[in-house]
Amino acid sequence: MLHEYGFEYYEKMAHWSFDEFGIHEETLTNWDLYELLNRLATKDSRILDLGTAGGEKVLSFFPDCAEILGTDFSPGMIGTARANLAESGRKNISFKVMDNLKMDVPDEYFDIIVARHTCTDAAQVYRALRPGGHFLIRGVDKYDCWSLKLTFGGGQEYDAPVPISIVEYEGLLNAGFADVELIPIFTREYFKDREMFKAFLETVPILEGVCSDGEPVNEDLLDEYIAKNTIGGRIILRRAYYGLKGRKA
Ligand SMILES: C[S@@+](CC[C@H](N)C(=O)[O-])C[C@H]1O[C@@H](n2cnc3c(N)ncnc32)[C@H](O)[C@@H]1O
Repeated sequence: MLHEYGFEYYEKMAHWSFDEFGIHEETLTNWDLYELLNRLATKDSRILDLGTAGGEKVLSFFPDCAEILGTDFSPGMIGTARANLAESGRKNISFKVMDNLKMDVPDEYFDIIVARHTCTDAAQVYRALRPGGHFLIRGVDKYDCWSLKLTFGGGQEYDAPVPISIVEYEGLLNAGFADVELIPIFTREYFKDREMFKAFLETVPILEGVCSDGEPVNEDLLDEYIAKNTIGGRIILRRAYYGLKGRKA
């Protein structure tokens, strides 16, 4: 994901859910972070989830195991995660405030470290993994929503000379990870109307630098995109993500 997107944005989002936009998502490729996580984990695993947000993914998709720690640099997110944990009744899970880029966890402690749509420092992750441990990433790539970014002439990573997936891939190799694999993930999102789509674009950072965080979108460009990308009455947004995994030898 985009590394610069700031602390204040996530603090503001701490009590908010994407469900509000009624998006229907269709996955076109078959690499699934949680399927892999559940396959690699055992009942004795210690798992760290970096950039855990409100803990929704941990509580819904992470396996029952010895220990799960979810961390986020936003105290608001961690407050939400703790409230969600109390409601869930799940055991062996805790949440704490931590910056992914200044990791404060013991060396060689975790069996699996997960980072979904958040920034990481591969060298720090490597240190926190026990030998044989796995690092699993899912990220948002440069060509995410590319026709939208082309229509608006900008957005997340629009001018990046090297896609973030490649930067992260090299980061894992440089940190010493073995069996490093980078996998493209494509999905389609469908929006039922212009109003929902516009509200979505004004909330998420996809069009960062052009419009985001409540700034109004350019109505003419929005109409141009919708005219070219409406199928069966629904507006389509083509998403490009990546999966990345490595093992500490
Ligand atoms: C897009 S959300 C992803 C949340 C969750 N991992 C998921 O997949 O749904 C990104 C999260 O990363 C957190 N984050 C961003 N930069 C961070 C950093 N440097 N250290 C810790 N957390 C960070 C944000 O606060 C936010 O909760």
